[in-house]
Amino acid sequence: MLLLFVKVVMSVVFVHMRMLQEVQVIIEPSFPERLSWISVLERLITGGAALTTEHVERFKKVFRAEGLQTFMLTWLTLSATATPTEESKDDEELPPGVIIEIPDLGRLASGAGATEKNILGPYFRPGAPFRGKVTPPFELGEVIVVRGRVWGFDTRKPLVGALLDVWQANSEGRYDNDDPAKPPKAGVFLNRVRLRTDESGYYEYESIVPGPYQIGTNLWRPAHIHYHVQHPGYKSLTTQLYFKGDPHNRTDSWIRPTLIVDFATIKARHGSFRLGTFDVVLAAGKGAV
Ligand SMILES: [Fe+2]
Repeated sequence: MLLLFVKVVMSVVFVHMRMLQEVQVIIEPSFPERLSWISVLERLITGGAALTTEHVERFKKVFRAEGLQTFMLTWLTLSATATPTEESKDDEELPPGVIIEIPDLGRLASGAGATEKNILGPYFRPGAPFRGKVTPPFELGEVIVVRGRVWGFDTRKPLVGALLDVWQANSEGRYDNDDPAKPPKAGVFLNRVRLRTDESGYYEYESIVPGPYQIGTNLWRPAHIHYHVQHPGYKSLTTQLYFKGDPHNRTDSWIRPTLIVDFATIKARHGSFRLGTFDVVLAAGKGAV
């Protein structure tokens, strides 16, 4: 009997939660004022049906007239506490006392002197294909999905059509162009893609956890994914996503705490993967697009 009572109560709670979500979505684009959750709850209790019908109609009207893009841009607002995303370049001047050695693996395609001038890092390659899966089929490694939005810091709105270059090492810490003896064939891009944000500034890709790699004696780069993000009217951003819990995070020279993502383990029908969110906030200014 007690179990039945608990089930009924939980069902009521879930139904109300679902209604709250729908009403929140419906209300925001059509009302200039933002209704608090408390006032929404009050209206649901005192006359929710009429309110919901009214707002569904208003929502349909706005949606039909202005489309999905306007709706999403109206609805989404960057958090008041957000700041522009920090840069994290591993090709800039080294911190004092750190000497990078060219590893035995022959990672630098054309020597350290030449690559240091490349602002996108030694392993960047322009012209990667547009696709939502970074790694080739059946690539070894722990599957991840990374999602996020690109935001304008000045407008606090998502940036539609922002261009992202994303590239990374494989699970063994190797890039497709790190061996000068075996350069990749023209047009073949492994573990690197370009993406564009959608009508709500959203992007998403599937990949694997990249392996750390050694860059000197007792010097390792932790697992990381490179980003280069561009949008007209904004400063282009070169940065990296890092993984919470990587032991090499403690000694890396380029890591920033704001760039570390805490991935959650998600159980799917045929296995599990790790899901992380990495929002990018661009500062207004001139960028090379
Ligand atoms: Fe790297």
